[in-house]
Amino acid sequence: MPQSMEYREFGRTGVRVSPIGMGTYYDIGWIAASALGIKINLKEKISAIRKGIEAGINLIDTAEFYRSESVVSMAIRDYDREKLFVATKVFPTHLRPEKLIRACDRSLRLLGTDYIDLYQVHFPNFRVPVSETMQAMERLADDGKIRHIGISNFSLPKMIEAEQSLKKHSLASTQMHYNLNHRSVEKDILPHCRENGIALMAYYPLGHGKLAELPHGQAEAAAAIASKYGLRTDAQVALNYLLSSDRCVFPIPRASNPQHVAENSLLGGNLFDREDMDTLTSLFA
Ligand SMILES: NC(=O)c1ccc[n+]([C@@H]2O[C@H](COP(=O)([O-])OP(=O)(O)OC[C@H]3O[C@@H](n4cnc5c(N)ncnc54)[C@H](OP(=O)(O)O)[C@@H]3O)[C@@H](O)[C@H]2O)c1
Repeated sequence: MPQSMEYREFGRTGVRVSPIGMGTYYDIGWIAASALGIKINLKEKISAIRKGIEAGINLIDTAEFYRSESVVSMAIRDYDREKLFVATKVFPTHLRPEKLIRACDRSLRLLGTDYIDLYQVHFPNFRVPVSETMQAMERLADDGKIRHIGISNFSLPKMIEAEQSLKKHSLASTQMHYNLNHRSVEKDILPHCRENGIALMAYYPLGHGKLAELPHGQAEAAAAIASKYGLRTDAQVALNYLLSSDRCVFPIPRASNPQHVAENSLLGGNLFDREDMDTLTSLFA
């Protein structure tokens, strides 16, 4: 892997991953077409992930819901599996123990791998006790099918319930909506993650693309900050804001265009200072 990338420990897992990850939620059109066996722009998607790996990104996020586990499988097959950190998610209708174990086996098959680095509960299911799911997660970890346990879209009280339900393993991460326009996690989840050594994967880090092209006013201010740090684009400013907010934050922009991935892989080494962070938050208040 390129030495220029500054890897960070993912939570308290002892595993170092790239500060920027790659997301593989394409869109509902992809999911619907995939269900019919049609894979839209498959080659480009695979090449985007491969481009990221070549550039040193080793954190890859998928989910059974996205129907992109097989894309990840095709993209990673020629690389050293131990150097990659593959995260997937179980759908909320599969949180009872037997269903969870079946879903995990399916994801392992689709990913073409013997283990999942991070297995995340995609959303809580209020009909299934968190403790029941977490115990089954621990069984998967004990069986070597998964290495770490994560959650996504859990409120802070639900997150604490998940942490307290784990007896032998610790919660490695949560995954939440977090970007310059959507900073509610900074009030509670981010401080909790910081204090407890839990990684926070930021999804929609580019506001689903909106933050990659800022409107007049915000664009000029972002450009002034960008030039101080050797950055070129609005997207890089938006992602670097998240990377600078705390070392526990790992943004996972979607990777379907190889050029975007190459650009995103350059981030992580030159964090914004307090003053520039404040300027950015005042622009997006
Ligand atoms: N846990 C959850 O509930 C949840 C929910 C939603 C998403 N996610 C995860 O988070 C990931 C990211 O979310 P998202 O894909 O919806 O939104 P996003 O990453 O905020 O935005 C994606 C858009 O930004 C573009 N982009 C990426 N890098 C860029 C760059 N350097 N310059 C300009 N544009 C750039 C992408 O274009 P290209 O694709 O053409 O590169 C795409 O149009 C998903 O892929 C998924 O893994 C998780």
